[in-house]
Amino acid sequence: MKTKSVGIIGMGWVGSSVASSILQQGVCRELLLNDINEEIAEGEAMDLNHGSPFYPSANVKAATVEDMLKCDAIVITAGRGGESDESRLNLLNENIKIVRTISKQLKGYEGILIVVSNPVDVITYYYQKLTGIPSNRVMGTGTMLDTARLMDIVGDKINVDSKSIKAEVIGEHGDSEVVLWSKALVGNTPLQSWEGWSKEYENEITEQVKNAAYEIIKRKGATNHAIGMVTATLIKWIMRNENRIITVSSVVNGAYSLNDVAISLPCLISSNGIERILESEISMEEMENLRHSASVIHDAINSVKS
Ligand code: LAC
Repeated sequence: MKTKSVGIIGMGWVGSSVASSILQQGVCRELLLNDINEEIAEGEAMDLNHGSPFYPSANVKAATVEDMLKCDAIVITAGRGGESDESRLNLLNENIKIVRTISKQLKGYEGILIVVSNPVDVITYYYQKLTGIPSNRVMGTGTMLDTARLMDIVGDKINVDSKSIKAEVIGEHGDSEVVLWSKALVGNTPLQSWEGWSKEYENEITEQVKNAAYEIIKRKGATNHAIGMVTATLIKWIMRNENRIITVSSVVNGAYSLNDVAISLPCLISSNGIERILESEISMEEMENLRHSASVIHDAINSVKS
């Protein structure tokens, strides 16, 4: 039986956290690491291998992108991360060059591409277009991280474990993201009917989720742990064919009347990648905000010179 293997391209803050989370969650038996600086990939492999007594068996080694074409999933974190006062969209001019280079090496790849590099929606769009990999097998982590942040912050606010909060962020993984407050649940109770909940909390928490990365980067220079766990968990659910529903970014044509844009929407995820994008009734205001978010991403996509 073919053992599960994952490749990670880009071994900076995020890539190394993704690698550590993947190993500790026992996601795969083989983990290939690649970085433009080969020594970094080699050093990360050596360092992670020394933890082998403490995670489920896995072989970790430095590899080329070509070596990764046999992997079940490839994670791309390559690219510059943002400063604390810098929009993710501001990274596009630099990071799109890396997309062009890596895309050439990934043509014909038959596994699942997971994009983390920012601005993740635009980067996801261009990896899909430039590699020609079908859009159901190219997904950005997108607002899966924002959704996790929302669950954590809401749970903290009402003293309920974050895993019992069902609330979603859709749209851009960025300043125009949309919190679906109208759909949020605490167990089976609508959050907006939760005793002690206030409408003011919604504006306050929306800002906290939107600004979370900036606040962390201001303090420690980057974000890496949560995005590492998000990415490792997404790959684990895909590898185990768990048929989970999560907000991830993909190129959409038609869902919520949005076209030719990569954006985070609730998706049913399986070992085939994205099985379906799920549309549900959202408020007029949420739909308006989603359309605005899509136009922000669309403008960024169009700003890329061919
Ligand atoms: C963040 C990065 C992954 O939001 O965009 O932490």
